[in-house]
Amino acid sequence: MTQRPMIELKDVHKYYGDYHALRGINADIKAGEFFSLLGPSGCGKTTLLRTIAGFEDITSGVVMIDAKHMEGVPANKRPTNMVFQSYAIFPHLTVAQNVGFGLRRDPRSQAEKDKAVAEALEMVGLKGFGARAAHALSGGQRQRVALARALILKPKVLLLDEPLSALDKKLRENMQVELIKLQRQVGITFILVTHDQEEALVMSDRIAVMFEGEIAQLDDPETLYRLPKSRKVADFIGHMNFLPAAIHGEANGEIEVEVLGLGRCHISDKQAPGAVSGGEASIGFRPETLTILYEGQAATDRETTGKVEEVVYYGDMTYYDVKLDGVADPVRISMRNVPGRPVLERGASTRVAWSASALVLFR
Ligand SMILES: Nc1ncnc2c1ncn2[C@@H]1O[C@H](COP(=O)(O)OP(=O)(O)OP(=O)(O)O)[C@@H](O)[C@H]1O
Ligand SMILES: [Mg+2]
Repeated sequence: MTQRPMIELKDVHKYYGDYHALRGINADIKAGEFFSLLGPSGCGKTTLLRTIAGFEDITSGVVMIDAKHMEGVPANKRPTNMVFQSYAIFPHLTVAQNVGFGLRRDPRSQAEKDKAVAEALEMVGLKGFGARAAHALSGGQRQRVALARALILKPKVLLLDEPLSALDKKLRENMQVELIKLQRQVGITFILVTHDQEEALVMSDRIAVMFEGEIAQLDDPETLYRLPKSRKVADFIGHMNFLPAAIHGEANGEIEVEVLGLGRCHISDKQAPGAVSGGEASIGFRPETLTILYEGQAATDRETTGKVEEVVYYGDMTYYDVKLDGVADPVRISMRNVPGRPVLERGASTRVAWSASALVLFR
C-alpha cells in the first residue's frame, strides 16, 4: 500500500431536499487500501458511496479521485466500479456472459475477451463455471459473479455496498476471507459499506464509523476497538462496559480517577482519546480485559470481588455478567474456556482481576 491518496473527500455535504444526509465528510482513502464505511441504517453510507461513484451529485465540497476533481464527471467516466447490495446479475445469461457484459463495446477480439472473462472467473474462485446458467447458482456464487463483472473492468477503486449481507454466516465468513485475499492480489482500492462491525474489523485497513451523516471516528480496527473516542463509537463496536467515574487530578500525562466498584487509579492521558464534553465522566473497558480468578489464583494486577448473575456458554468462550461489589449494574466479562477450568455457575461469588492500563476514559 502506498501513502498516495486515491480518494480525497473535502467537506462533502449532500442534501436530499431539506434532509441533510452528508454533513461535512472529510477523509483521504489511500491507494490500495481496504477501507470500510461502518454505521447504523440510514447514517449515509450508501449516499457517500454513490457520491464517490458519481451516481449522486454533492451539494457542496470536493471529491477527488486519483488527484482529479470529479465535479461534472459522470459515473461511467470515473475510475470506479460499484457492486450493489442487490447484486443484479442477469439470470437468463450464462455466467460468462454476465461477467463479460461490461466488455460489450470493448474493441478487443472475442478470443481476448474470453480470456479476460476466464481470468476474472478464476480470480473469484469460479473457474469452469462460465457456461453455467446464472440462475443456477447459489447466493454466494452469484455474489462472486457480480464481483468478477466489476473486476474485469479493472477499476482503480471498487465500491462494495453491503455485498455480503444476503449470505448466511458461514458463507459470509468465507467470502470475507476471499475478498481480503482478492484485494491483496489485485491491489486496487476497496471501499466496503457494512453495518456489521465484526465484518469491518476483520476486513479493513481502516474504518470510518458514521452516525447521522458524519464520520465520528476514522481509525485502524485496533485503535477503534481499544481507544474509541466516544461512548457511541465504543458501543457500536463490540461490547463495552461503562462505570461512573470521577476525575481527581491531571498532571504529567497522567489522570487520576475514582471508578465506581474499582476504586482509585492512574491512567495515561492516551487512555482518554475523546474530546472533553463537560458531561459526566465514565470509564469503559472491554469484556476480555477483566479476568475471573479461580481459587488459589493470584491476581496479576488489581483485584475486586463480585457475584455471577448470568452465564452464557459459547463453547470456546464463556460470557459472565458479574455484579461487582458496590455497583448496581453487572459488567460483562469474557473468559476463554480451557480444559480443567470449570465454568462458574450463576450466583457464584468470584474474585475479578483488572488492570488500569485497559481502561478508557470518556469525559
Ligand atoms: N433519494 C433520496 N431522497 C431522499 N432521502 C434519501 C434518498 N436516499 C437516501 N435518503 C435518506 O438519506 C439518509 C441516508 O441514506 P443512506 O441510503 O445513505 O443510508 P445507509 O447508511 O446506506 O443505510 P442502510 O444501512 O439502511 O443501507 C436516510 O435517512 C435516507 O432516508
Ligand atoms: Mg445503504
